[in-house]
Amino acid sequence: MKDTSRKKIVVFSGAGISAESGIKTFRDSGGLWEEHRIEDVATPEAWFNNPELVTMFYNQRRKQMMEAHPNEGHLAIAKLESQFQVTVVTQNVDDLHERAGSTDVLHLHGELRKSRSSVDNSLVYEVDGWELTADSKCELGSRLRPHIVWFGEQVPMMAPASEEVMQADILIIVGTSLEVYPAAGLVRIAPSKCIKYYVDPKATQISGVNNLEVIQGRAGEAMPELVEQLIKQYGC
Ligand code: APR
Repeated sequence: MKDTSRKKIVVFSGAGISAESGIKTFRDSGGLWEEHRIEDVATPEAWFNNPELVTMFYNQRRKQMMEAHPNEGHLAIAKLESQFQVTVVTQNVDDLHERAGSTDVLHLHGELRKSRSSVDNSLVYEVDGWELTADSKCELGSRLRPHIVWFGEQVPMMAPASEEVMQADILIIVGTSLEVYPAAGLVRIAPSKCIKYYVDPKATQISGVNNLEVIQGRAGEAMPELVEQLIKQYGC
């Protein structure tokens, strides 16, 4: 039973929260989209034209995720649950929030740990280890694809994510360039009375977003400080 006396915090995270765990972001220098063309690895067309290349790309990312560990930023977010109702709405497909101890994590763009049928989206499976192959089939016999939201595809978790953000007392935006929609639009539907923070080395004020404190810093350093401050100021 959710303890409604506790303030509700929604953490909206992006690739930057996992950067200090050794996982590359997408658009920073040396980022993933400098090494790979989105059209080759992250669209339904790419899967249709070259499933081998797409499978290899996500196998590599899955392997790297399994070798990585949550950092101080992830751990600080998990610590918030001791004093607040916390929902993490993440654009990330890694499982570092869960491994850090966060218990309510909503993945907008899918999960590397899962695969799904190429013919029935409702058939979702846990991936055993890091490698999917051409022989990995769903129960209907179709080739398993990564359980990832590719560019041009629907984002089914937007509705529950919007619900969470619209009830937030505190919104923490961390490690995201806010360049990808519809996810980035979430920051504009938080209630105006909601207290907002943007933690990112490149953080700036966001047009149309009020009550926003900008914290230009790396998550591993800035998040533990912010969490201590929030616990002192608003903890139960
Ligand atoms: N701590 C906090 N933020 C950081 C750190 C760090 N240590 N290092 C980098 N950043 C910030 C960068 O300044 C940048 O604003 O992380 C952000 C990463 O931005 P992107 O690479 O654009 O990643 P993200 O916003 O998560 O991308 C959104 O785009 O490619 C798609 O589906 C993919 O979910 C992804 C979506």
